[in-house]
Amino acid sequence: MEKTIDENIQGTALQLENTSKNKRKLYIESYGCQMNFSDSEIVASILANEGFNTTQELNEADLVLVNTCSIREKAEQTVRKRLEKFNAVKKVNPNMKVGVLGCMAERLKSKFLEEEKIVDMVVGPDAYKDLPNLIQEIDQGRDAVNVILSKDETYGDVAPVRLNSNGVTAFVSITRGCDNMCTFCVVPFTRGRERSRNPHSIIAEVNDLWDRGFKEITLLGQNVDSYLWYGGGLKKDFDKASEIQKATAVNFSKLLELTALAQPKMRIRFSTSNPQDMTLDVIETMAKFHNICNYIHLPIQSGSNRILKAMNRLHTREEYFELIDNIKKIIPDCAISQDIIAGFPTETEEDHQDTLSLMEHVKYEYGFMFAYSERPGTPAAKKLPDDVPETVKKRRLQEIIAVQRKHAAYRTGQHVGKIEEVLIEGASKKSKDEWMGRNSQNIVVVFPKENYTVGDFVNVKVNDCTSGTLIGEAVGYSNNN
Ligand code: 5AD
Ligand code: SF4
Repeated sequence: MEKTIDENIQGTALQLENTSKNKRKLYIESYGCQMNFSDSEIVASILANEGFNTTQELNEADLVLVNTCSIREKAEQTVRKRLEKFNAVKKVNPNMKVGVLGCMAERLKSKFLEEEKIVDMVVGPDAYKDLPNLIQEIDQGRDAVNVILSKDETYGDVAPVRLNSNGVTAFVSITRGCDNMCTFCVVPFTRGRERSRNPHSIIAEVNDLWDRGFKEITLLGQNVDSYLWYGGGLKKDFDKASEIQKATAVNFSKLLELTALAQPKMRIRFSTSNPQDMTLDVIETMAKFHNICNYIHLPIQSGSNRILKAMNRLHTREEYFELIDNIKKIIPDCAISQDIIAGFPTETEEDHQDTLSLMEHVKYEYGFMFAYSERPGTPAAKKLPDDVPETVKKRRLQEIIAVQRKHAAYRTGQHVGKIEEVLIEGASKKSKDEWMGRNSQNIVVVFPKENYTVGDFVNVKVNDCTSGTLIGEAVGYSNNN
């Protein structure tokens, strides 16, 4: 994902349009993956109907919601720190209520209320439609908890409120939950089993975004390649579906095609792919449609077969190479990014070297790299000792990051001298006279503004680069406008 899961998890405050009808003020902050940011837009939409305006001023909030992440211990600590801050604000504004959403809510359930006195309400990722009832409870002075996970894609019919939006790019959620059970990962426990959203509602959302001027969407899911719509229900129950349901089922490659055809000028990205679930037909569909971007986020986690097995990744290093070779054969200029974990239990120096050598083979454009963080209740936490010393984890992580930096610079350099189609997202951070956009490979491109504007597809001649950014000049509109 061009994703927000990074070690310095970012928060954001979301702003809703003010209308005189809406009286109460909601302050909402999101941490973790893109799915959480996307969910907060659903929450804002549900609460807008209940008379809530969002505010960016914590001090004036009637309701503070924090959408949390449990993926690593540090992410949870960040949230706990924020709760301390909310506590201080509550001393000045005693009527303020605080609710915790997302993965930490699901993991800790009502324990949260005992551990953090400031918290009035705990709401898991599938229970946001119950927020109006839960808020009534806390209004009457009672604590409220709903952490029930669902068998259906819960929010297909909620039109997200696009908050903090650049008006050009948007997320569209297509699946929820994950069945992969990687042994280190808490997500299958906090977000439940995999279920897919009705393709009609996905296409309707994409069409609506196009009508409102958006030019790029990212189809979101923990494991998009396992998208499967057969009329609703859990992915694991597909075997029990009727013959008609099976014959008319829509898989991810079909969904991509439907989306690409529905809006031929809309750029399409997707995230996250997992090697064991990504099939050749997806790559072929990407190759067939110009508007599907040539970029795949394809986590590997480790280059060692022994560790991959211990992680329950269900593929080998060799199978991963085969997949990468197929991608490059079918889409030679396809960019690939990784997630890697350093210091998984029992990881030896040799295993670590396997990770570095795998990276040398692939030469990823981009990477998201983490030190292993034991998560309570996961299979790894139950079965394996967290036995790689922190200093060793940190050193290995630094080595992985150094190799990634080298490869990012190499890959970025390959674009210099080329003319590439760029979608303008906004002003460059460094100069108000320059635009910032991305090419198909998701690499940031900056160039002088001239008469172009946000949302334009522009052909840019790339003249130079830094390790992660391309620097160029526009040579005209692309024919995608
Ligand atoms: N420790 C460190 N990193 C983790 N990830 C998931 N669980 C853990 C963990 N326990 C990383 C994986 C995953 C990404 C979203 O977060 O690399 O792909
Ligand atoms: Fe976690 Fe693995 Fe599912 Fe990703 S694929 S969410 S790492 S269990």
